[in-house]
Amino acid sequence: MREQVLFEITKDHLETGMRGFPVGYCTTSYVDEEKGLFYVGRPLSEMIHFTPIQMIYLLYHKKEGSKEEVQAFEKMLASKARCSDEVVSHIQKLPKSAHPMALFCTAIQILGMFEKTKDYQEDCLNIIAKLPHLAATVINYHAGLEPVKDVTAEIGYMKNFAYMVNFPCEDKELLWKVFRLFNILHYDHGGGNLSTFVGKAVASGMQHMYGSLSAAMNGLSGSRHGRANQDCLEFVKQIQTECKDSLSEEKLEAWIRDKIQHQELIYGFGHAVLRVEDPRATVLYEFAKEHFPKDPLVKTALCLRTVGSKVLKENPKIHNPYPNVDAISGTVLTAAGFPYPEYYTVLFGLARCVGIAIQIVYERCEAREGRGTPIIRPKYIYKAK
Ligand code: MLT
Repeated sequence: MREQVLFEITKDHLETGMRGFPVGYCTTSYVDEEKGLFYVGRPLSEMIHFTPIQMIYLLYHKKEGSKEEVQAFEKMLASKARCSDEVVSHIQKLPKSAHPMALFCTAIQILGMFEKTKDYQEDCLNIIAKLPHLAATVINYHAGLEPVKDVTAEIGYMKNFAYMVNFPCEDKELLWKVFRLFNILHYDHGGGNLSTFVGKAVASGMQHMYGSLSAAMNGLSGSRHGRANQDCLEFVKQIQTECKDSLSEEKLEAWIRDKIQHQELIYGFGHAVLRVEDPRATVLYEFAKEHFPKDPLVKTALCLRTVGSKVLKENPKIHNPYPNVDAISGTVLTAAGFPYPEYYTVLFGLARCVGIAIQIVYERCEAREGRGTPIIRPKYIYKAK
């Protein structure tokens, strides 16, 4: 009997970025075009009260942990949370002129040079434990701040991170709440987003966890992927500057129409999979309205949410005229006292490495009754120029 056909590939599909091609299984999450992101079968919006460790436990074990199980998991990760002085000192020799994401990718490689075991499961947990210290070291060093003093993972995964990053901040408690929310919203986004796919592809050649994640993070660094959150904030700020103090829906609408007429990009709208407002964005819009209702940047982002969709909806070629998570994440970080867009993609990477590492464990250790998936090897059709 013929196997069920999942997808038919025609010539029109070539050079479309493999959009929507099914290539394997993902056991951590999926993205429904109408309902958004689900972690292990549950809508993310139902779990935004989870702590990072509860969420990582869920993604890693594919079930919600009991209080005792989560505590034991947290203790185990906390015992691995500190990067060695050797790793830190190598990171602190990297060129500061590079983008922080270049340092972050290299930092992951450096960690691997000292700590790789070739056991994907062990390396997965090791890097998840060390990501906050690694990312905070990169940010402090790149920004010319004091290095991390104490790694106190026992106070909480992202609280520890907030206290390790040494930018001055009036309200660290609020900042760590925002970091926590940003972190859990970005752990995973199905199997086919660019960075995840790259990480799994590189691991399919039997590269170790650190090398695979470093490659994945290079994928995340591009402006069409993770770097979009930095660019989106610049866009919201540009609106603020150009529309001056008197921002109104009418004024913004005229400004957007002018951009479109000049074929300029409207940042923060649309998504490869989603056909509705990104539910992660909805969570952040609600948070922003609750915590920063008077913040001028938040007001601008909220105005853009409405007006941007209104104008983009007029174009029938645009499948998704709604905001994605990047449209608001940078604004919330700025309002919470972290107005440093250069580091936003590092924050995204700090989160996304979790999902990618767990997906790599599945592909290398569990898929096909433990044999693992074969090396990625698609076909390109020869075309004479
Ligand atoms: C995201 O988090 O939105 C992604 O990684 C992009 C995607 O899903 O393609």
